[in-house]
Amino acid sequence: MKKKIVVISGAGISAESGLDTFRDSNGLWANHKIEEVATIEAWNRNPQLVLNFYNKRREELSKVRPNAAHLFLAELESKFDVDIITQNVDNLHERAGSTRVLHLHGELTKVRPENSYNDKDSYSEESILDIRYENVNLGDLAVNGSQLRPHIVFFGEAVPKIERAIDLVSKADILLIIGTSLSVYPAAGLYRYASFDSKIYIINPEKLDVDNDRIIQIQATATEGVKILEQYLNK
Ligand code: OAD
Repeated sequence: MKKKIVVISGAGISAESGLDTFRDSNGLWANHKIEEVATIEAWNRNPQLVLNFYNKRREELSKVRPNAAHLFLAELESKFDVDIITQNVDNLHERAGSTRVLHLHGELTKVRPENSYNDKDSYSEESILDIRYENVNLGDLAVNGSQLRPHIVFFGEAVPKIERAIDLVSKADILLIIGTSLSVYPAAGLYRYASFDSKIYIINPEKLDVDNDRIIQIQATATEGVKILEQYLNK
């Protein structure tokens, strides 16, 4: 039976494709205020500003390609049973060829109808529309007549896929944590669900402060780090 690899990825894996991370110097949160573009309150107050922010991200995504780290993870499927849990809203894992990708924080190329005020967190999978790289603006409505919103988990909203992610992490023989600062919960706490006999690797140019001395930290960019990781996996 193939060993199970679970990957937790973040913005850093897409940095070498040309997409900005959030918290590095000159990252997205240095140039935009989270509370104006990425919270549920921002959406309620000024939805067009939020739509503009994600329209720009979608346009940028249309111009970039998966890098060697995304491709490495896709190729791992020939030897391992691989699940990717990504905090990224880009589609670079899928475009690299990965077949099982769970998007914890939503997907840029999708929208869904805004629900009634009391029920903003919940949505049906059937209501999600694929818009590829199109813009969305105020007045763009779903068939049910409600405003379309980005299919993104805003700060202040629930993370519906976290239970599935916990289950995957708990079953991993090998856990890879690539390109995330581990600063946004609940995603940041996922690695704690790994079983005691699993192997855990972090790939990040920065050393992360993690409370688990079994974790091997590979201090490198994603594309360099996967080459080092390959040597560990071949042992
Ligand atoms: P961050 O911007 O918080 O962290 C990016 C991490 O990538 C940092 O630890 C960097 O050191 C690392 N990094 C930078 N360049 C890299 C490279 N070339 N290769 C590998 N790693 C590199 O991004 P996330 O951890 O993904 O959520 O952020 C988590 C969430 O916060 C995002 O999903 C987003 C954001 O607010 C929402 O908007 C809901």
